[in-house]
Amino acid sequence: MNYNEFYNNSIADPAGFWQEQANAIAWFKKPTEILSEDDSGYPLWFKDGELNMCYLAVDKHIEDGYGDETALIYDSPVTQTITYYTYNQVKAEVAKLAGAILSLGFSKGDTAIIYMPMIPQTAFAMLACARLGITHSVVFGGFAPHELAIRIDDCRPKLILTASSGIEVDKLIAYKPLVDEAIDLAEHKPEKVIIFNRKLGAKIPFREYDVDYETLVNSSAEAGYEILNSNHPLYILYTSGTTGKPKGIVRDTGGYATALKFSMKYVYDVAEGEVYWAASDMGWAVGHSYILYGPMINRNPTVLFEGKPIRTPDAGTFWRVIEQHKVQTMFTAPTAIRAIKKEDPEGKLIKQYNLRSLKNQFLAGERCDVSTLDWYRQHIPIPVIDHWWQTESGWPMVANMLGVEKMSVKPGSATVPVCGYNLKIFNENGEELGANEEGYVVVKLPLPPGNMLGLWEDEARFKAGYFTKFPGYYLAGDGGYRDEDGYVYITGRIDDVINVAGHRLSTAEMEEVVASHPAVAECAVIGVTDELKGQVPMALVVVKSGVEYEHFQLEYEIVQLVRGQIGAVASMKNVIDVKRMPKTRSGKILRKLLRSLLDGAAYQVPSTIDDESIIDEILTDVSRYRSSKHEV
Ligand code: COA
Ligand code: AMP
Repeated sequence: MNYNEFYNNSIADPAGFWQEQANAIAWFKKPTEILSEDDSGYPLWFKDGELNMCYLAVDKHIEDGYGDETALIYDSPVTQTITYYTYNQVKAEVAKLAGAILSLGFSKGDTAIIYMPMIPQTAFAMLACARLGITHSVVFGGFAPHELAIRIDDCRPKLILTASSGIEVDKLIAYKPLVDEAIDLAEHKPEKVIIFNRKLGAKIPFREYDVDYETLVNSSAEAGYEILNSNHPLYILYTSGTTGKPKGIVRDTGGYATALKFSMKYVYDVAEGEVYWAASDMGWAVGHSYILYGPMINRNPTVLFEGKPIRTPDAGTFWRVIEQHKVQTMFTAPTAIRAIKKEDPEGKLIKQYNLRSLKNQFLAGERCDVSTLDWYRQHIPIPVIDHWWQTESGWPMVANMLGVEKMSVKPGSATVPVCGYNLKIFNENGEELGANEEGYVVVKLPLPPGNMLGLWEDEARFKAGYFTKFPGYYLAGDGGYRDEDGYVYITGRIDDVINVAGHRLSTAEMEEVVASHPAVAECAVIGVTDELKGQVPMALVVVKSGVEYEHFQLEYEIVQLVRGQIGAVASMKNVIDVKRMPKTRSGKILRKLLRSLLDGAAYQVPSTIDDESIIDEILTDVSRYRSSKHEV
């Protein structure tokens, strides 16, 4: 097949194109209204279709005779466990958990938060919610109680599902006290908390709302699946935006199922039955789309990995998993490869494993630097495919569509727009830019199926954040350009979002936390370049006049504050105290200038700067800080 022809069809006739793709999934009622619009002109897909995501992921394969085949491979180097689950086993677990949830009085239309580590019960919890039409919201386990509380207050779950603990390499992290603290902090109070006890020794303080997962499931009958409308909200997934409040991305059911099925075949080039592994966390978009729903509806045994690319136990762990489970397609973030490369620069551990099963390596989540790509290709000579997408889209927006036409890889580029994405590069005035001119990455409406339905109960933010700057176009939040062959290069965020080890975080949110320290008069949090994590946050603070603070004490307290309020995953380690902030004449902090100064990059003095002499002052403060850190 030819990419250009396939892509052009998808843009010329979106309804016709996606109607055909929707035939690849099993609807209870096939949609007849393929593409319509809501009151404000935002696209709605398959409005009158009916289906169930859990049915597609599990029951359908059993009906087709694959009940005894492997559905899920749980590989946990941190507990030294490997467990295989067939579709029949997954169904028994999920249907009983769904029955248990029903018996507690929860049903279709309710919301549930899932705050769990990388264990099979997390997948079962998501599928059980999907089975019943309960909208789930998975919260990444690395977020602190304060972050969990924000999400509890936003989506007001009647139920929380959690586990006794997670394991970070060799640290046992007790989850239940974190959940209790979040509930205490939140205004909304869930009715029940179901806890899966991993029996690893973590304390589980008992509260009256608690229910034991195993006891409940063992005494429950299996529940059937609900027949749901295509636009039924399958999940809410919070992601960082440009303010302190995360955005609750709402995903539909039918458009998402269609898009995922399409992507497994045409983007990832995966045939049914092949083993697929996305080494990410269930708390991120990658986890939802490509650990759980995508591979499961495409009948691909999916690997659920509880470990890290290094230290669990070493930098060979990825290659061991690939060999042991005969993984054919793998997906991870470039930062994971950088971590492995740092530990095993000559690829000695790679040579210890048989990686013949592996066909393609996909990378996403952050910009893929050329040296990482080259190192991988040098040691494992298979296609390494960078592709670009976001929580909002739920599936790839720019990729090398291997299942359509294998295009040549240009290092630094995520290749070309995926079918359905009419992508353009705009300047500030909304004019389309030519080849190699950098600007805003936008997508002309309608977005294809699978993209967000909206932001949870926040229509105004949805419209203002994505569709107001360029009416009729989706503003992706990234900058980029296209070359003369149409290849897309993503150059980075245009807003206050940073990407730390593939995790999307908001500097505005961190600034709110830093500013809450009693000694801080003013602050800015900037994402600076980091060799391993891509970016890490650095705080610059101006201490209140008259306040005396020993620098390292202040730094320690601010670092602890960010860890406590947002989570260790923010990786905030450095705080520099400066005398003043560089500002415009109207008083806005010049964050872009600060980023260049901290990265030691070339910069232009902005014409709007209030006082140019501050640049030398900041550079002196930064070098004083760096040399003091070095001495310590
Ligand atoms: N629960 C609790 N704490 C967590 C956590 C979780 N689920 N995930 C991370 N953390 C903590 C870590 O323990 C660490 O704490 P510390 O500062 O006390 O050591 C901190 O958050 C930072 O963790 P992490 O970002 O994982 O950094 P690291 O230095 O431990 O490891 C990498 C570096 C590159 C190996 C790791 O970041 C990694 O595997 N990245 C790939 C991420 C990924 O797959 N992203 C995909 C998104 S598509
Ligand atoms: P998330 O919503 O957490 O998946 O993060 C999405 C953001 O990660 C995007 O808006 C980009 O800034 C960044 N990103 C994801 N994939 C890539 C990629 N392949 N290249 C560059 N940036 C990427």
